[in-house]
Amino acid sequence: MRKRIRKILVTGGAGFIGSEFVRQAVKGGLEVTVIDKLTYAGDLRRLKGIPLRFHKADICDKKAIELVIKRRNPDTIVNFAAESHVDRSILKPQDFIATNVTGTQVLLDAAKKHAVGLFCQISTDEIYGDIKKGEFTEKSPFLISP
Ligand SMILES: NC(=O)c1ccc[n+]([C@@H]2O[C@H](COP(=O)([O-])OP(=O)(O)OC[C@H]3O[C@@H](n4cnc5c(N)ncnc54)[C@H](O)[C@@H]3O)[C@@H](O)[C@H]2O)c1
Repeated sequence: MRKRIRKILVTGGAGFIGSEFVRQAVKGGLEVTVIDKLTYAGDLRRLKGIPLRFHKADICDKKAIELVIKRRNPDTIVNFAAESHVDRSILKPQDFIATNVTGTQVLLDAAKKHAVGLFCQISTDEIYGDIKKGEFTEKSPFLISP
């Protein structure tokens, strides 16, 4: 049986939905650590007044990520850190490959190495593109963005 979730590491926690997740997690009694690179999309004001530990770091930075995991010893990682605007992925794909692919790999490797029990990867339905009728399933092809 899985152990109770108590200490979570939220990456991208200064972003639009990451910050709301953080607010609710703290309200729910969890001990929260946030890692965020504070790109143009990150805003620390969203976390103002919320009791948590904050580390400014890039999820591609293996050393920094491992240091935080060692220090905070989370039982769960929730990854919201992303380049998130699909239009920008077409204009500047390298940032997306770095954060969304390499950064996620760095987090997964660190989670495995430090035996973090649960890893939750946040994605988006935008990968499916628009639909005129009916609904997508998780088996639908990815249409919109490389
Ligand atoms: N906003 C939505 O309605 C929505 C809906 C469904 C899914 N999602 C998905 O949820 C995730 C987060 O979305 P959002 O809207 O909060 O995005 P956002 O752009 O508002 O926030 C992303 C956060 O990640 C941080 N970040 C970016 N690169 C980083 C890096 N290399 N290292 C550390 N931090 C980094 C940014 O500073 C920012 O705080 C994305 O994967 C997005 O596709 C968003």
